[in-house]
Amino acid sequence: MKPLIFVTKRIPQPALDRLAEVFELRLNPQDKALSKQQLCEAVGNADALLCLLTDSIDRDVLSAGTRLKCVSNYAVGFNNIDVEFATQRGIAVCNTPGVLTESTADLTWALIMSSARRIVESDNYLRAGSFTGWEPMLMLGHDVFAKTLGIVGMGRIGQAVARRAAGFSMRVLYHDPAADAASLPAEWQAATLEQLCRESDFISLHAPLTPQTHHLIGKEQFAWMKPSAILINTARGPIVDETALIDALQTGKIAACGLDVFENEPEVPAALRDLPNAVLLPHIGSASLETRTKMGLLAAENAIAVVLGKQPPARVN
Ligand code: DGY
Repeated sequence: MKPLIFVTKRIPQPALDRLAEVFELRLNPQDKALSKQQLCEAVGNADALLCLLTDSIDRDVLSAGTRLKCVSNYAVGFNNIDVEFATQRGIAVCNTPGVLTESTADLTWALIMSSARRIVESDNYLRAGSFTGWEPMLMLGHDVFAKTLGIVGMGRIGQAVARRAAGFSMRVLYHDPAADAASLPAEWQAATLEQLCRESDFISLHAPLTPQTHHLIGKEQFAWMKPSAILINTARGPIVDETALIDALQTGKIAACGLDVFENEPEVPAALRDLPNAVLLPHIGSASLETRTKMGLLAAENAIAVVLGKQPPARVN
């Protein structure tokens, strides 16, 4: 008899095909997120769970999985899972590092460029029929070339964002207490969070969400930033105090922001949606067909390895 895997939402077909080679595959039949009750029922007799970052895999869900050996997250971030409790229960928790690094760095740059040069605002202006001809003062934004990019969290994605900055002749500052400076290019300069906030023109967040990084960017940090600063977040929403961010944008403490993630996803406060100097995306950092397929295949290999008693390619506990 094949082991059973429950997949909480449809993912690219090659990953489902790979899972079906080893598992009896059960896929959430609805095109919407499962309730906690449904999640508990789904893991009830499963050997493995393949879940999304939007599924909260807490103690109740983990306890409901009496045969559960693996929680394979279809994401690199795993703040949605109670890893400590899973570890106590001998359940392997796996994620998808590496395969989404470059796509997420690309999207970070899309946000840098679009928030600096007011791309979304300009597009809306034109579509509204407001473009009546070239004007010297129309949609003036901020240059990117030769500016200072401050990266908070210098892991794989932070480094991929920093590498792209060389093409724009930018100075790179980074803040990451866990970074090994000796393994990073000498021209990237380590900084305290305060120095980074004070000196950067663009501040881009790439840290994981942990109790230490929750609201890492709040009122005090916005007060350190330049009025021309632009904040970019493609990591996790709760790293930024969203109320303080809205105030900073409304009162001109900073110039603009580009966000792919929000404090209480999928809720986005009306006050933020009303701001023309905020570019807002629906958490699409890794959303290319190639990358989402690679994530699915890696998540599949993780689950397969665990049930076959092998070392999975990306285990976090
Ligand atoms: C992740 O993997 O953690 C991203 O947020 C979604 O790809």
